[in-house]
Amino acid sequence: MKPIKLKENIYWVGEIDWDLRNFHGYSTQRGSTYNAYLILDEKITLIDTVRPYLYEKMMKRISHLTAPSNIHYIISNHVEMDHSGSLPHLMEAAKNATIVTSPNGQKGLIAHYKNKDWNFRVVKSDETISLGNKNIKFILTPMVHWPDNMMSYLVEDNILFSNDAFGQHIASSERFDDECFQGVVVEEAKKYYANIVLPYSSLVQKAMDLISPLPIDMIAPSHGIIWRSYVNAITDEYRKWAANRTEKTGLIIYDTMWGSTEKIAHTIQEAFESRGVCTKMLNLRKNHISDIIADVLTARFICVGSPTLNSNMLPTVSGLLTYLKGLSPKNRVGLAFGSYGWGGQAAGHVENLLKECGFEIMETIKIQYVPDEIILQEVSDRLKKEIAKYV
Ligand code: FEO
Repeated sequence: MKPIKLKENIYWVGEIDWDLRNFHGYSTQRGSTYNAYLILDEKITLIDTVRPYLYEKMMKRISHLTAPSNIHYIISNHVEMDHSGSLPHLMEAAKNATIVTSPNGQKGLIAHYKNKDWNFRVVKSDETISLGNKNIKFILTPMVHWPDNMMSYLVEDNILFSNDAFGQHIASSERFDDECFQGVVVEEAKKYYANIVLPYSSLVQKAMDLISPLPIDMIAPSHGIIWRSYVNAITDEYRKWAANRTEKTGLIIYDTMWGSTEKIAHTIQEAFESRGVCTKMLNLRKNHISDIIADVLTARFICVGSPTLNSNMLPTVSGLLTYLKGLSPKNRVGLAFGSYGWGGQAAGHVENLLKECGFEIMETIKIQYVPDEIILQEVSDRLKKEIAKYV
């Protein structure tokens, strides 16, 4: 449990959550990391903390470098408890520390921990504080991910402590991007963006504009791997994701009762593929919705299918659509489909929810009972013509 050096007098003192498999509904099959950072200067400064059950481990790392009572500033970039959860314990160990946070950060920390006698220093955007030899500048980034979020920029070392932005849920002994397989880190960063940050994309764009003039050697997020060799690559991806820029790809997301909706799904896939649109089949019984949403981040065509059950769609499909609507992806084309026995309401409900997502809508496909080859061929021919209008 040793600290890991980023640059001279700057250390990672966070903790790895190897066993985490679910983060409030987000499937974290690679675990996660809560990154805290210690800066040794005249005013010893800790940036963020870890979840309370990992507090002792964080303190062991800190104790390799200094006595916790020597901590002068604790920068709270974000109130959410995965980063602030150890503050109540820590403030017992570092009784004289001042918590540096945004105005909403102060309100949020008081609302969470009810401890009004903590020392706070509330900072504004562009404000700088001196730690002695080093200076930290604050960039308020509300809604990336909560109203309180801010980033801290270590001026002399060109390190951006970005909190949730640029993070990934990865448990790993490696700390830096060039020590890992880059494809995995970007894939997890994409999943993180899609599930956590996507609804606030317009504010991410503003945040990107605020950080773009800064020389950045490292981006040190609050989860996962630290970016130092691929800073430009990940910032380019963030700009693309924040702009809702999609690719010529499609997703066929569905659940099925007796296989009829699945047959329609395969017909839809073949129609898209015949028009040069790469597609992915995503059975909701086999894929976690947080993984599906990662694919939604870059796909232009979102096709969603359900058979009718009790005058409605299957619960897996309504769960997906409710989640999708909240994440608010833009610039997509939606297609509803499904089989039915008598009422046939599901496809219409799916269509309505896709409309509520703000998607352009293709003509809904609904087929009674088991589709035969003739009906599927008709569906395919019509769909190919419709797809041709978009590609
Ligand atoms: Fe990693 Fe919004 O907390």
